[in-house]
Amino acid sequence: MASSGPLGVAVVGCGMISDEYLPHMTAFPDLNVLFCADLDQTRAKDQAARYGIGASGTLAQALEYPDVELVVNLTLPVSHAEVATAAISAGKHVWNEKPLTTDPAIGRALLAQAARAGVQLGCAPDTVLGAGLQTARRLIAQGAIGTPQTGLTLMQSPGPESWHPSPEFLFQPGAGPLFDLGPYYFSTLAMIFGPAQRVAAVGRQAQGTRVIGSGPKAGIEFGVEVPTHVGALVEYDGGGAASLLFSFDSPLPRHGFVEITGTEATMAIPDPNQFDGDIRIHRRGRDSSWETIPSAGASAGGATVRKLSRTTASSSSALVP
Ligand SMILES: NC(=O)c1ccc[n+]([C@@H]2O[C@H](COP(=O)([O-])OP(=O)(O)OC[C@H]3O[C@@H](n4cnc5c(N)ncnc54)[C@H](O)[C@@H]3O)[C@@H](O)[C@H]2O)c1
Repeated sequence: MASSGPLGVAVVGCGMISDEYLPHMTAFPDLNVLFCADLDQTRAKDQAARYGIGASGTLAQALEYPDVELVVNLTLPVSHAEVATAAISAGKHVWNEKPLTTDPAIGRALLAQAARAGVQLGCAPDTVLGAGLQTARRLIAQGAIGTPQTGLTLMQSPGPESWHPSPEFLFQPGAGPLFDLGPYYFSTLAMIFGPAQRVAAVGRQAQGTRVIGSGPKAGIEFGVEVPTHVGALVEYDGGGAASLLFSFDSPLPRHGFVEITGTEATMAIPDPNQFDGDIRIHRRGRDSSWETIPSAGASAGGATVRKLSRTTASSSSALVP
């Protein structure tokens, strides 16, 4: 990104996750959040007021607003492509929440559109840039587990309808455990094993309806439109393989389980939905103990958010052409 001053940002989508983005983005000196947009104008106005942002309104108004260079797209998965396309057409860089789109062909078209337009298109999860996963990546590159061979991941919970006040989208195309939480796990495995070559999977659905558990809509029943339990096998170009499980059907919550097994050791990687965490290594031929290695390096999020300068901010390294 060529400009020299703070980067002008418009946030599109002022729902739940905007309360995670806005306090951080308004704290970074290299960003200048100028505009909040949402289909719900009141919500956009309220978030602008809460975080001291000067203007709010529609997507179209955000794209016309002076000095906006980057659109941070925090809309629902079904709207990610539409909002990103409009922003790229207006010459803006785009950061999308995950998933990039709900369809691979549309995702590829979006990447091609951004390349043609000469703008940057990035996508969550940015946790792969955090201290936890970057320390794991460095250790593996240094040979800490020998040659990486296989990955094993597990994420299971009763589902997010208990805590999200508008959870319907999490059970519609573009979400479910695979699209909602899978990006954290698949991105981590891609960081280690590279591009995937073949995938096989099975999907199940335990319940046809769910009930909202919190907020003003608590007690309302809604339909489930996607598999809520997915088991996947992946083979990577470089020869690695992984087994992954994603479920919103389990009363027993377990998440953040990622193990990479190499020729010399197995590494337990920090939760890919977090920026920090220890790395544990269990070496071949030793007793049953694990060696614990703290993560090192810059993190973002929660209490660890730092004031990054424009030159040291890690955001640009997450961007894909
Ligand atoms: N909630 C979380 O904990 C969480 C965590 C990580 C990532 N995310 C991701 O963030 C995104 C948003 O999730 P959320 O939980 O904030 O949802 P939400 O329902 O709370 O908010 C989404 C907002 O986007 C607005 N919106 C939808 N379509 C729009 C459009 N075309 N133009 C403008 N505004 C539009 C809605 O009106 C709503 O205000 C999703 O992609 C989700 O996967 C959420």
